[in-house]
Amino acid sequence: MLTQAPRGTKDLFGSEVNAWQEMEQIIRELCKDFGYGEIRTPIFEHTELFQRGVGETTDIVQKEMYSFQDKKGRNITLKPEGTAGAVRAYLEQKMYADIQPTKLYYITPAFRYEKPQAGRMRQFHQFGVEFIGADSPTADVEVITVAAELLRRMGISKVKLHINSLGGPECRKKYNEKLKVYLGENLDHLCPTCRERFEKNPLRILDCKNENCGKIVANAPTVLDSLGEECKNHFEMVKTLLDEMGIEYTVDPGIVRGLDYYTRTVFEFISTDIGAQGTICGGGRYNNLVEELGGASTPAVGFAVGLERLLLVSEAEKGKKEYVPSRDIFIGYIGEKALIKAHHFVYQLRRAGISAEADHLGKSVKAQMKYGDKIGAKYSMILGDDEINTGKAVIKNMETKEQTEVLLDDIVEVVAELCKKNE
Ligand code: HAM
Repeated sequence: MLTQAPRGTKDLFGSEVNAWQEMEQIIRELCKDFGYGEIRTPIFEHTELFQRGVGETTDIVQKEMYSFQDKKGRNITLKPEGTAGAVRAYLEQKMYADIQPTKLYYITPAFRYEKPQAGRMRQFHQFGVEFIGADSPTADVEVITVAAELLRRMGISKVKLHINSLGGPECRKKYNEKLKVYLGENLDHLCPTCRERFEKNPLRILDCKNENCGKIVANAPTVLDSLGEECKNHFEMVKTLLDEMGIEYTVDPGIVRGLDYYTRTVFEFISTDIGAQGTICGGGRYNNLVEELGGASTPAVGFAVGLERLLLVSEAEKGKKEYVPSRDIFIGYIGEKALIKAHHFVYQLRRAGISAEADHLGKSVKAQMKYGDKIGAKYSMILGDDEINTGKAVIKNMETKEQTEVLLDDIVEVVAELCKKNE
């Protein structure tokens, strides 16, 4: 137990963490280009925020939250997603009083007590964006383009966009009635959780993971047939804009999303490359959440990408990238005087933005140079009494074996120049 991480969690290090850093850099540049500012909210929030925000009848709230009482008896939950916290912060920090609309992004761990399998973790990571304060279909499409462009920049092509509209409260009321008539006939065959949901929130039954419930809902009426005029027009405009931008999509009435806050447009990016957990991105419009959490009526739209899944898809398409270590220079030494100088030079070089390394393990000079080779040093240099006394040493290009004599006083400038030439 002591040396085993909890089920559904993962240590990231070595080559794998390099892939994460690369992905995060792509995301940060993407968000800069699209005008989204980063928000970092706490890992835990009051449990009530998710009960109210995500919804009492969702799988997340009913079955999957990591909730506990703190030492003062407060009900606390590790965030199962990023939207509720971002909206809480939007209200608490009065972002609505700043330039509108508010465009936020986050990269955050999230926690759900689910059965772990490939692409499904108990601690996972989300990149999400929240576009708060605009009701226009252009905002829906803008967030979709953020996700589409992320996939393009990651070099991922085999992922399909599925879109749907869940309508507003009026359409939903009409639809719930139709749905209840249909589901009422099959009530006995639904799982106990769904039987409970039947009265409170029949839409939730549509994304139940139980196999039997899945078979029953396959023939249920679709929400698209219950959309009112305004919601229909909104959805039509979303499709027109996507067509204009050349973003391919499938209208899929099966996309109902697992969280309660959605209104109108919902969407998922789905891969068929990584098995059952193929939904790498999910999102949509949530026009009632800000008000539900105590703010003024404020429209919003956003999405989140599961980063573990995004990497799985990237690796399925392009293979795993092997990362080789690299340093600009390795300085070997013989004797104590040289040891002191070598470590001083390493510090000076690093301060100039040059990656330098020297031995810490008392290795022989031969073993030191082997180590320099292993860590991918482009240049090497050996210091001994002679070099210290004459103030001169030789820098060797490890690949071409070319040698350059250098005055030790000029070492930083010379190595910087060599590295520049080698770029
Ligand atoms: P979600 O669909 O619950 O939406 O999660 C978004 C993405 O997180 C999923 O598509 C999936 O890639 C990833 N994900 C979810 N659960 C797990 C898990 N257990 N292990 C690995 N990856 C997982 C939301 O969370 C909404 N907050 C999205 C949103 C933002 N809607 C509007 N704004």
